[in-house]
Amino acid sequence: MTHSAVSVIAAKRDGGALSDDQIGWVVDAFTRGAVADEQMSALAMAIVLRGMNRRELARWTAAMIASGQRMDFTDLPRPTVDKHSTGGVGDKITLPLAPLVAACGAAVPQLSGRGLGHTGGTLDKLESIPGWQADLTAARMREILTDPGIGAVVCAAGADLVPADRRLYALRDVTGTVESVPLIASSIMSKKIAEGTGALVLDVKVGSGAFMKNRADATDLATAMVELGVDAGVRTVALLTGMDTPLGRTAGNALEVAEAVQVLAGGGPPDVVELTVALAREMVEQAGIRDTDPADVLAGGRAMDHWRAMIAAQGGDPAAPLPVARHTETVVAHEGGVLTRLDALAVGRAAWLLGAGRTRQGESVQFAAGVEMHCKPGDPVASGQPLFTVHTDTEAAVPAAVAALRDGYEIGAQPPESVPLIIDRISG
Ligand code: URA
Repeated sequence: MTHSAVSVIAAKRDGGALSDDQIGWVVDAFTRGAVADEQMSALAMAIVLRGMNRRELARWTAAMIASGQRMDFTDLPRPTVDKHSTGGVGDKITLPLAPLVAACGAAVPQLSGRGLGHTGGTLDKLESIPGWQADLTAARMREILTDPGIGAVVCAAGADLVPADRRLYALRDVTGTVESVPLIASSIMSKKIAEGTGALVLDVKVGSGAFMKNRADATDLATAMVELGVDAGVRTVALLTGMDTPLGRTAGNALEVAEAVQVLAGGGPPDVVELTVALAREMVEQAGIRDTDPADVLAGGRAMDHWRAMIAAQGGDPAAPLPVARHTETVVAHEGGVLTRLDALAVGRAAWLLGAGRTRQGESVQFAAGVEMHCKPGDPVASGQPLFTVHTDTEAAVPAAVAALRDGYEIGAQPPESVPLIIDRISG
């Protein structure tokens, strides 16, 4: 049957379900350049407004995967397992998690991205380590994963991994079509399935600093992604975790690396440790590794050994000092009481204004920029006590960042209701 972009767009615009044939054709034609960017943008908007059913979503994801090469690690001597987070503020969990799970006996092949807007990207964080390189050949990736003293790799996806997503995401970013469960689920899962991992743990964030602002939407996204993974033969489970307040006490690339190293050394903020261990337990279970508790491995220091080896394997010097910002300024409390709210979006926005994030794909970031949080919700606060330290190389950015932070917290008389960090678990 012959297809046209206009007929496919019109079918979705009018609320119809696209046939397998229509989906296969439109994704392939877009990848080849035979469907124009403006046509794909119109189709993306129709999908945002009309959605996709489970069959359409599975077919769309398969077509995205088929636009490029699929990696295969089934011959590695150890089970492969990866984690994906839908993105949040201060989310440095991959940094301690990947070496921890490798130290438990799995291989962790993580193809990661750079940040856009208020959420940071794992590659940006790791690139703040002097010498560290995000680009690896497939052969080198395999060597690192096979080495029992390393076993974890975090690197940039090659241009041939789901090229349709690379182009489509760039369009979605500038056409108001990012926030859609089927488009997010297919974008993330096509890359994770093509990456060749045998098992996957998803950290789906819920709250002001996340894509999904409420639990119902996050549950829909997690369910769609788990179904896609399971249907593609990847053992997949999702945790729904809170993102109303930032994770840990830092947001910003080098600041977050330093905090991750504290966790690997047996310290670090309790919420970062809790989520790292919870996700590691899920990953180890999905990988089929029994009788190893990641909490014991972390306490025994073996995750730190894998971290150092993992950084060095990608050219980084794990002992080198991290970049330091040219300007810092401390924001103090104007009143005493208890910190009742610290908004993730406000902190993410402040870090971005300070230079830690980018506005457009391809821009550079300031490695040393970001926000240090001296208090978290529930902490007592005295008038005049430091609440934040902002770090930046651009002094002129400080007033706007401080204004964003001033709007993002509240001090009250009563402690806030305590909310669990791990809200739910969704399995296939
Ligand atoms: N991350 C992705 O890779 N894709 C999306 O659509 C959203 C977040």
